[in-house]
Amino acid sequence: MKRVLVLNGPNLNLLGTREPAVYGSTTLADVEQLCRGAGQRLGVEVDCRQSNHEGQLIDWIHEAGVAHRNGQLVGAVFNAGAYTHTSVALHDAIKGAELPVIEVHISNVHAREPFRHHSYLSPAAAGIVVGFGVEGYVLAIEGLLRKGRVG
Ligand code: DQA
Repeated sequence: MKRVLVLNGPNLNLLGTREPAVYGSTTLADVEQLCRGAGQRLGVEVDCRQSNHEGQLIDWIHEAGVAHRNGQLVGAVFNAGAYTHTSVALHDAIKGAELPVIEVHISNVHAREPFRHHSYLSPAAAGIVVGFGVEGYVLAIEGLLRKGRVG
């Protein structure tokens, strides 16, 4: 069975208690359950990981690039949190690994502070899902699989 990687970056381990007015009350464990459920429905295994460390995220993207090249992994759904707005290194990792990535944001970053309007990841991403709450992860998994099918 093919695999999809769901990657969450810094502070997303705090989902559920972190600024609920912005991010809702769903926990990261709930989000991961939602993603695994979508995977079951769509016939893919979903591997969920979270780290607060940029280097760890980069290592996972490199590893995912190899699995993608070997035909084991469709790609990744990635909410990089605040690293979205700061990290050239994550941009380079996605490009370098040639990994299909769907960038996800729970909130509509474009309706928030100006420093959230720019993403270093978007130019390297295969698609972007923004502002759909945690359902955005499911939309991103579906989008990644559809892209995989139509090339
Ligand atoms: C976020 C938006 C980012 O600006 C923020 O730093 C996050 C979460 C979102 O999912 O809406 O940590 O990526």
